[in-house]
Amino acid sequence: MINVEIFRYHPEHDSKPYMQSLTLPDEFRKKMVLDALEYLREQDPTLAYRRSCREGVCGSDGMNINGKNWLACIKPVAEALGTSNTLVIRPLPGMPVVRDLVVDQSLFFHHYEQIKPWLINDDPAPAIERLQSPEERKLLDGLYECILCGCCTSQCPSWWWNPE
Ligand code: FES
Repeated sequence: MINVEIFRYHPEHDSKPYMQSLTLPDEFRKKMVLDALEYLREQDPTLAYRRSCREGVCGSDGMNINGKNWLACIKPVAEALGTSNTLVIRPLPGMPVVRDLVVDQSLFFHHYEQIKPWLINDDPAPAIERLQSPEERKLLDGLYECILCGCCTSQCPSWWWNPE
């Protein structure tokens, strides 16, 4: 059996957050942390977390797993465990908890909006579309790949201390 310690907080019912102790069958060592969460939610449908694509693309299941932020859908349980037999799952640090592993990412997206993360073109808009050459497109490589999961931001102490 694999031990699991999971952060729980349902503000309508709980006076404060607590860690819930659960177990997983050993076969989950070969699966992803999101598979483990799906299994645990079958046992307890009140467990809340975000997920969508299950492919490391949508960025919705960022969480803190054994002390580090990861996307649960692409983090193997065995890798997260390392030499331990306990999976400790918490919400992303430094963000207000809405419920269980679901955090309020409003400040993160507010910061993102402030850097104006879009292309700015002062030329008048053409009648149909702006054409882009392959060379122009190549200039964008390295600038757009972030999936906005919040994992790196919320693991950064500078962000905890200077949220403004
Ligand atoms: S579920 Fe989409 S990134 Fe994990």
